[in-house]
Amino acid sequence: MQQRKILVTGGAGYIGSHTSLALLEAGYEVVVLDSLINASQEAIRRVEEIAGRNLSFIEGDIRDRACLDRLFNEHDIYAVIHFAGLKAVGESVEQPLAYYATNVAGTVTLCQAMQQAGIFRLVFSSSATVYGPDAPVPYQESMPRGRTANPYGTSKSIVEQILEDLVQSDKRWSVALLRYFNPIGAHPSGRLGEDPQGIPNNLMPYIAQVAVGRRPLLTVFGSDYATQDGTCVRDYLHVMDLAEGHVSALGRLTLLGTHIYNLGTGQGLSVLQMVEAFERISERPIPYQFAPRREGDLAAFWADSSKAATELGWQARRGLDDMIADTWRWQRQNPNGYRTNINTTSEET
Ligand code: NAD
Ligand code: WQD
Repeated sequence: MQQRKILVTGGAGYIGSHTSLALLEAGYEVVVLDSLINASQEAIRRVEEIAGRNLSFIEGDIRDRACLDRLFNEHDIYAVIHFAGLKAVGESVEQPLAYYATNVAGTVTLCQAMQQAGIFRLVFSSSATVYGPDAPVPYQESMPRGRTANPYGTSKSIVEQILEDLVQSDKRWSVALLRYFNPIGAHPSGRLGEDPQGIPNNLMPYIAQVAVGRRPLLTVFGSDYATQDGTCVRDYLHVMDLAEGHVSALGRLTLLGTHIYNLGTGQGLSVLQMVEAFERISERPIPYQFAPRREGDLAAFWADSSKAATELGWQARRGLDDMIADTWRWQRQNPNGYRTNINTTSEET
């Protein structure tokens, strides 16, 4: 039987590469469209190596309508999983237009091309950030979207609204809005992982680079939050669990309409708990110093992920030790990420 073919935009990136692998392993055919603005084609090569199967890779931009039209002409796509976008919160404050052009206008272009090609199944990478700072924890899908703290978050909120309006206007669409909490970890082979360019913005890649000796110490932003140890609490989930959540969500697209799911573990952990667990598992010291709070950070949030469990049959299966052991294996085996033989002493690495 001909296998269903999935277009994965942003499939060379961190979550997209792990999801492409999960799709291949679940028997789907995969087409990846990625501009490589924040990724390396080496990730695609490794996905194919682990899966023992090839996918189709197209280097291109979701804002390029002609490219999308060609792609949909050449490939019989069952559904689109849409990861492509810009995701650095601080950069989004400095360059809001770039974020709206890619994340919002790019998604509109993608949906227009899908509509013309008669493809009406979409899974969208949203974020827990859409709940906003005033939502009570744990976050539940029935809560309204809140105000957002930066253009990145606003772009996710706007796209959710656009997709809801689209579904409202045309009943042929089925759209899953997946609200990720804090994905960390790597494929257990150590061959795929998160490969941030320059200085990591996020906690886990930063800790991993300290552990491997690429950075001298971690700066912990804020020690006076109203949490158990004064540091921020987040719901960290394994990227392979997240990847599998996308495979589960595809199954839900047989139902028309909008389907919103939190993808998290339901458990909050503090920055210091993450540091301690990384030290324990890596058996390396993680020196750190406290600094003032980072602007826009919330004290604590985590998911109520019972809806995904009930309706998708999905729940995070991997625990904290797996997340850290896999991150550490990836970091140790690939100290420079997907780039090899690069001198790591330069400022930018
Ligand atoms: P990533 O940067 O590793 O992946 C995004 C991919 O999209 C990259 O490979 C990049 O090259 C590609 N891309 C960017 N602009 C493009 C364009 N115009 N056309 C084609 N490709 C383009 O990020 P990620 O962590 O894998 O995140 C994937 C998605 O999940 C993003 O939409 C992100 O906003 C969302 N998300 C991520 C997190 C997280 O913590 N990582 C949390 C919530 C939501
Ligand atoms: C986690 C905690 C920091 C770095 C961000 C985006 C969100 C989503 C996921 C999506 C916080 C602390 C961090 C450091 C630290 N992105 N920290 N020292 O902020 O929960 O979420 O990534 O696409 O939209 O906002 O994740 O990993 O940046 O931070 O102390 O060097 O670690 O203050 O409390 P965050 P994070």
